Amino acid sequence: MEVIVESGAHAIAVRVADAVCELLRRKPDAVLGLATGGSPLPSYDELAERCAAGLVSFARARGFTLDEYVGLPPGHPESYRAVIDREFVSRVDFGPGAVAAPDGSAPDIPAACRAYDDAISAAGGVDLQILGIGADGHIAFNEPGSSLSSRTRIKSLTRQTRVDNSRFFGGDVDAVPAHCLTQGLGTISEARHIILVATGANKAEAVRQLVEGPISARWPATVLQLHQHVTVLVDEAAATGLELLDYYRETLRLKPDWQGI
Ligand code: GLP
Repeated sequence: MEVIVESGAHAIAVRVADAVCELLRRKPDAVLGLATGGSPLPSYDELAERCAAGLVSFARARGFTLDEYVGLPPGHPESYRAVIDREFVSRVDFGPGAVAAPDGSAPDIPAACRAYDDAISAAGGVDLQILGIGADGHIAFNEPGSSLSSRTRIKSLTRQTRVDNSRFFGGDVDAVPAHCLTQGLGTISEARHIILVATGANKAEAVRQLVEGPISARWPATVLQLHQHVTVLVDEAAATGLELLDYYRETLRLKPDWQGI
């Protein structure tokens, strides 16, 4: 796991965009894992700007989102399908149908979840997964207690996550669905490279657990310690709990130029 502390959200976005552009240069038909939430938005802005400037193309790429609420009517503006279309997909040049999302209104939820995992496998797996992290250490919607080898499935959201996400539902916690579909921790762990972005002091404890805590379903993101290629991009505020912060800074400073992230 590599930890990179940046000065702020823009510097993080540039790193993420550089990694996506480099991947698409090497592999134009790459498969991207796309997160919703606020953390990746500056990266999507940066990529949309670069795409508009002709510096990168998503025309042959494909994408899979991480999660979706259960019970929102199709087309609801806060469904993650609508959010990712609005915030990213519609702003770059993906082909029609190139980005898939779990179907939270499927009549047969277990079958839809299995089909989603199968679709990721059939696409060859995710080359680069962009992730955020919840204050309670969840990734996608894998709340504390999630099996570390879980697959895409239905989950109940914690009260805290519903409170956190109520800002998108007019501040009404009861308007936030109680259930979601989410790629499992096992599913996410199959991505070849994972970039996790976290900014702000309210993420500091989750980042501390993710990087330096014991691997535990109590902090689901800690499963990433078992992955061979994870890059954790944080700002100063989110890095404050890290015991080995000086070492991470030194490692970055001395890193060979050829290495990349
Ligand atoms: C949501 C999403 C996660 C996201 C997390 C943090 O619940 N399901 O994918 O990482 O919250 O969101 P934010 O980046 O807005 O803090």
